Amino acid sequence: MHVVRTIEELRAARAKMREPAFVPTMGNLHAGHLALVRIARERTSSVAASIFVNRLQFAPQEDFERYPRTFANDCALLEAEGVDVLFAPDERVLYPEPQAFVVDPSPLANQLEGQFRPRFFHGVATVVLKLFSCVQPSIAVFGKKDYQQLHIVRGMARQFNLPIEIIAAETVREADGLAMSSRNAYLSPDERAEAPRLYRLLDAVRAGRETAAGARSALDAAGWKTDYLELRRQSDLAPPLDGDRNLVALAAARLGATRLIDNVELQLG
Ligand code: PAF
Repeated sequence: MHVVRTIEELRAARAKMREPAFVPTMGNLHAGHLALVRIARERTSSVAASIFVNRLQFAPQEDFERYPRTFANDCALLEAEGVDVLFAPDERVLYPEPQAFVVDPSPLANQLEGQFRPRFFHGVATVVLKLFSCVQPSIAVFGKKDYQQLHIVRGMARQFNLPIEIIAAETVREADGLAMSSRNAYLSPDERAEAPRLYRLLDAVRAGRETAAGARSALDAAGWKTDYLELRRQSDLAPPLDGDRNLVALAAARLGATRLIDNVELQLG
């Protein structure tokens, strides 16, 4: 695996790749990320990944500084998965000057996650566009765990006519159902034991055993602080209308100091 730190090095490495697939990450990799790499690998003969903790998508009070940075281990994992090129720029490479031009994915960016993390998707969309422009992939793989992010990246690729196929990968879960996430590392042992309740309740909504409002109350009653637990349409994440069948139940809730997100797709009727 060729680790490149600058855009010039990346361009030279990119020139030797044919129609690469790309997996952008913020590092601290787990099995969910590696599943994205495997999907990329199945689709093309050359795979690029990136590791960059993007300050632009963190609010000042959020966990940018303490976000786990595990670069050596991440490199070993990516290499074992057969990644060809790893782009690992530092901030001076990706943001050599204050980023004046920012992608604004409103109105969706102001709903669900965006209601609680107001500039989050502006930061995500901006860095993803920059990474796309540096790597110039043919395919990019994003996890459904970040469902709204996936939707926004798809919309950005479509509306900016980016010649990149966006592939969605299923959420990878621990044996007890908890969606894999770098932030799971913040959970205490007691919180870790409690954390699968989020998926259990979403799954109960999917199976029709629980309403979204009921699931939200059950989470709060168990000591969580729920930001949202809502049904939306899969196609555009708008609130469902009568007759909509393909829905997704999305949730974000705090367990102690850790904010977890998850979602499940469901089909009515
Ligand atoms: O999902 C993530 O890890 C990040 O939001 C991404 C897409 C790498 C952009 O920083």
